[in-house]
Amino acid sequence: MMFYKRLREIDVPEMMAGIIAETLDKPWDYYRDLSRQLWDEARHAMMGEVGFVNLEIDWPRQVMVNFTWSLALNTQLTPIERHAVLYFIEQGLMPKTGKRFEWEIGQASHNPLSALFQDYDWADEVLHARIGRDWYLKEFSDLKNLSASA
Ligand SMILES: [Fe+2]
Ligand SMILES: [Fe+2]
Ligand SMILES: [Fe+2]
Repeated sequence: MMFYKRLREIDVPEMMAGIIAETLDKPWDYYRDLSRQLWDEARHAMMGEVGFVNLEIDWPRQVMVNFTWSLALNTQLTPIERHAVLYFIEQGLMPKTGKRFEWEIGQASHNPLSALFQDYDWADEVLHARIGRDWYLKEFSDLKNLSASA
């Protein structure tokens, strides 16, 4: 199940690529941070893939993945609205059943790859929550300041 959760992260680069490509005139650091995050999400999906391959599970045939989530976001929402969706997901990853719990499950599974992958995933998702605060929240304080001064 942890490998499946990681594999499903492929939805995130699918929705992030459009945010980055369609958001213009940001500082270089914005593109660097969001590109780093996009790559992390793709890597997490590959960790899921590697986990299945390691267990000799033919994942393209036996593990169902669809792209309806990213398709809906990319075709129905603006880039900043998609960033809002991403922000709220990332801020909600650390409850009782969140990343620490997933890492504990990975350890308890005695599958060394799962424990290792959950460790990477947890660390990266902490960074993503910060990237969301740095860029998504900043967008709103900038907009508020704009309307306050208008
Ligand atoms: Fe993720
Ligand atoms: Fe992840
Ligand atoms: Fe993330």
